[in-house]
Amino acid sequence: YSLRANNTFGIDAKAHAYLPVDSVEMLESVRRDASLRALPRMVLGGGSNIVLTRDFPGIVLHMCGKGIEVVGHDMNATHVRAAAGENWHGFVQWTLQNGLNGLENLSLIPGSVGAAPIQNIGAYGVEIKDCFHELTAFDLESGRTFTIDKAGCAFGYRDSIFKRQLHDRAVILDVTFALPKQWRPNLQYADVVQEIDARKIATPTARDISDAVIAIRTRKLPDPAVIGNAGSFFKNPIVSAAQRDALLERYPRMVSYAQSDESCKLAAGWLIDQCGWKGRSLGRAGVYEKQALVLVNRGGASGREVERLASAIQADVKAKFGVMLEPEPVFV
Ligand code: EPU
Repeated sequence: YSLRANNTFGIDAKAHAYLPVDSVEMLESVRRDASLRALPRMVLGGGSNIVLTRDFPGIVLHMCGKGIEVVGHDMNATHVRAAAGENWHGFVQWTLQNGLNGLENLSLIPGSVGAAPIQNIGAYGVEIKDCFHELTAFDLESGRTFTIDKAGCAFGYRDSIFKRQLHDRAVILDVTFALPKQWRPNLQYADVVQEIDARKIATPTARDISDAVIAIRTRKLPDPAVIGNAGSFFKNPIVSAAQRDALLERYPRMVSYAQSDESCKLAAGWLIDQCGWKGRSLGRAGVYEKQALVLVNRGGASGREVERLASAIQADVKAKFGVMLEPEPVFV
């Protein structure tokens, strides 16, 4: 089974078996079937955050369940539940159309609802954890379905328990969000403010912010339907204030963001750009012309080629700045 249409990098790796899953019963049957249980498993959503480096000798469980509903309220928030297989951007648009705000800064992020908590997707000053209530998951080991709240997910920057202890074990079935009744726009990010100003909007609605984010992303990021990619390929590295200051002495124009603690985030895109990688290629894998943090498939690239390019970039950034970039997508 070719996975080419199931990963936004457009890598033509093959899986031994493939199963679209839209119910707990199907997961249970995979667990009960001795021959299926023996196979390695890969749970797949939109495939927008993976790099397939080789053929997969096991079974791909493609989460396809659909459905969105308001499930309750409390004093501060409306609770909305979406099935794992819903498209993320489609879900965000559904909330806005139904007068529910809070996810607008996360517009146009590729992928599915079920995959979103795994890496705690974030953009323009908002992370999914800011509006997260709880989720339901199926434990492939015990066969139990369980609910996990925000604290249990251990969300961090592009990180959660689903990348760690529960990796390969928990299959996310649905996610419930708490969307605030008292909404205020999140205008932390300069790009968003500029776009809103350019549109001469004085008091932006959530719809306005979504439109602004869609415009910014469309300008800067390649559409995976046209050019294969997995969004930001590296995390923005976190360094100490001392290390940042030392770097700033040598590179006064370096882009960095202070964190709530003493540490600081560097813009990986800037570091890669400074190493001269923007727009370059290695084999059929390349660095996007408009954003150095995004690696792209120039056509027919293998996962190995993407890996080779990523390693070359890591080596150059390490040599020039002494910083090791950590990949953001999951390598399979
Ligand atoms: N920059 C360069 N050259 C480049 C790219 C960026 O000099 O080629 C500089 C920019 O000028 C800017 C800074 O680097 O000053 C940061 O760039 P940008 O604002 O585009 O954001 P980013 O740090 O590259 C992060 C997220 C994105 C998210 C945006 C907006 C990570 C790894 N990436 O990108 O997330 O959309 O901020 O919030 O944190 C993703 O995770 O897939 C993703 C796209």
